[in-house]
Amino acid sequence: MSFSGKTVVVVGASGVVGSGVVRKYLDAGATVFAVSRSAESVERLRSTIGAQPGDRLRGVVGDFADDESAARAKEAIFSALAGAAIDHAVSVQGFVNFAKPPTQSPMTELKGALDSGLYNNLYAAQSLLAALKSRDGSSFTLVSGGLAHIPPPNPALWLGTVKNAALNALTLALAAETAGDKVRVNCVSIHFGVAPIGGDKNQFGMAAEGDTLRLAPAFLGVARGSQKGQVLCLHSWADAEKLAG
Ligand SMILES: NC(=O)c1ccc[n+]([C@@H]2O[C@H](COP(=O)([O-])OP(=O)(O)OC[C@H]3O[C@@H](n4cnc5c(N)ncnc54)[C@H](OP(=O)(O)O)[C@@H]3O)[C@@H](O)[C@H]2O)c1
Repeated sequence: MSFSGKTVVVVGASGVVGSGVVRKYLDAGATVFAVSRSAESVERLRSTIGAQPGDRLRGVVGDFADDESAARAKEAIFSALAGAAIDHAVSVQGFVNFAKPPTQSPMTELKGALDSGLYNNLYAAQSLLAALKSRDGSSFTLVSGGLAHIPPPNPALWLGTVKNAALNALTLALAAETAGDKVRVNCVSIHFGVAPIGGDKNQFGMAAEGDTLRLAPAFLGVARGSQKGQVLCLHSWADAEKLAG
C-alpha cells in the first residue's frame, strides 16, 4: 500500500530505528515530519538516509525533555504541519546503555533512563494523540526492546529491562485511554539487535543480522494493519517481515 498523501510524524527520527522508519515512509510516498532534538541531528538524518531535495522530508527541531520543552516541541510540530492532519506517528526516543547493577547504581541513572526513554515518549503521546484520536485509520506506535520480557542476561543491562517493560506498560495504558477512539496505539518490541543503515552491529556492539532499513517495513505494516492496544513482539527478522505484510 502506498502512503502517498499521508502525513507521518516520527519523534526520535535521527536514531537507528527512527532513521529507517523515516526512509521507508518517504519511499512509500508519505510526507514525513522528522522530529529531532537539534538542527544538527536533522542534518545528520538527511545525510544518513540520503534525503534528496524532492523528498517530502520536513525536519522539525523539538525535545520532549520536560514540560516547557515538550510544549515548544508540540508547537514546532503543529506549526510545521501548517494545518495538515497527522495520519501516523511513531515515537522512538531513547536507548538505554549499560549501567552498574541495580543496587550499585546511583538513582540518577534510572531517572535518566526513564527521562530519555519513557517520559519523553509519554510527552510525545500527550502532544500528538489528541490530533490522531478521531482520524480514520490513524496509528500511534511506540518502540521497546525484548529485554522487557526477560531477566537481564547481564546485570549491566537492567535499565533496559526496566525501561522497556515500562514502555510496554505505557502502551497498554495509552491504548486503554483511547480504546473508544479511532487511533490505534501499539508498541513494536524488538527482541534482536538492529544496526544503523548499512551497519552490522547495534549500539551495544551486538552483532545484528539486519539493519534498520530491513526492520522499518514492519512499522508501515502496523500503520496499515488492524492491531490496536498490542505489544507486538518481534522475536526474529522473520517476525518483522511477517508484520510488514
Ligand atoms: N537498536 C537496537 O538494536 C534495538 C534493539 C531492540 C530494541 N530497540 C529499541 O528501539 C528504541 C530506539 O532505539 P535506537 O536504537 O533507535 O536508539 P537511538 O539510535 O539512540 O535513537 C533514539 C533517538 O531518541 C532520540 N532522543 C530523544 N531524547 C533522547 C534522550 N534524552 N536521550 C537519547 N536519545 C533521545 C534521539 O533522536 P534525536 O537526536 O533525533 O532527537 C536518538 O537518536 C529503544 O526503545 C530501544 O530499546 C533498539
